[in-house]
Amino acid sequence: MAADRYILGIETSCDDTSIALVSEDGQVREIETTSQFEIHAGYGGIYPELASRAHVAAILPALDAVLQRSAIGLEQIEAVAVTCGPGLIGALLVGVNTATALGLAWNKPVIGVNHLQGHLRSAELDGHKVDYPAVVLLVSGGHSLLAHMQSPTSMRLLGQTRDDSVGEAFDKVARMLDLGFPGGPIIDQFAAQGQDTMAFPRPMLHAGYEFSFSGLKSAVRRAIELDPNLSRPDACASFAAACFDVLIKKCERALKETEATSLVVVGGVAASRPLRARMQALTERFGVKLNLPPAQWAPDNGAMIALAGWDRLRALQAAQPNTKNGSLPLQAPIVADPGLALEEI
Ligand code: KG4
Ligand code: ZN
Repeated sequence: MAADRYILGIETSCDDTSIALVSEDGQVREIETTSQFEIHAGYGGIYPELASRAHVAAILPALDAVLQRSAIGLEQIEAVAVTCGPGLIGALLVGVNTATALGLAWNKPVIGVNHLQGHLRSAELDGHKVDYPAVVLLVSGGHSLLAHMQSPTSMRLLGQTRDDSVGEAFDKVARMLDLGFPGGPIIDQFAAQGQDTMAFPRPMLHAGYEFSFSGLKSAVRRAIELDPNLSRPDACASFAAACFDVLIKKCERALKETEATSLVVVGGVAASRPLRARMQALTERFGVKLNLPPAQWAPDNGAMIALAGWDRLRALQAAQPNTKNGSLPLQAPIVADPGLALEEI
């Protein structure tokens, strides 16, 4: 029997250094992730220069760990996939340069992957299956967007945030309330003890698929200025309810208008238990399936980049049918692009 083949996925776009080996059917053979949580905690947000340096220190040990633990032969690695954007330029460069060096040393193709594409595919890691067509909500620290996916490789952007992402708004509100970083899990905990009493705005609730969270964030700031001793639990519950009302409404609209058979929620904010419960209720009401990736695949990780890398490799191979696996002609060098837009495919 032929040995399984893998793509090595490298993710360094923000504050996680993550390397994974993923087989063609999405099984994660091995993964090593180093989070920079402690480095940035004192700043209330990601400190880009420190992020780059931490990636440099972590990336080769992560690679060694993955190769050693998996004990696979290099001939089983089909290609190296790396996040080439969007993200922090210094952080992206660490991954892109490492992938380029590995491609040269191992004589393997190097595939640039859009980080957002990786998140959108993360629900199918480890053998999970999404029912297509699907509405996919990506809510992370860096991004918030809603997409319609006809299949794993056919994607249309419905709308995205005009300013802050949902996770970013959680982090900033937590900082205003002196609750710590990252804000999502902390706000979740406080919100569970409070009530939605503060009538914060639900921005762009009735308009299309775009989001905007900076006005909501300002409303929280004004409430704190008016009453510096306001109830933290009620402020968190009111803020989270306003965010989630908007997300639910947009997903509801997308389910109605696209007749998708499932709803997929990915990204770090998908870890929120109240959000998960409300998405569950929404999908039951519509009679569609809810796909939530296991919590371990919600944050940034190299496995989702490898899975999206497989999609891209197959597309490249289909476009050049005379080349054998692993022998794609030299690609143009991968360029790190901090503002890389999501490609509609
Ligand atoms: O996907 P992710 O790990 O990183 C990015 O690609 O940005 O998302 C991190 C974000 C952070 O902003 C964090 O506050 C948020 O996810 N988050 C949560 C929860 N857990 C993490 N937000 C709301 N509720 C949570 N339980
Ligand atoms: Zn991400």
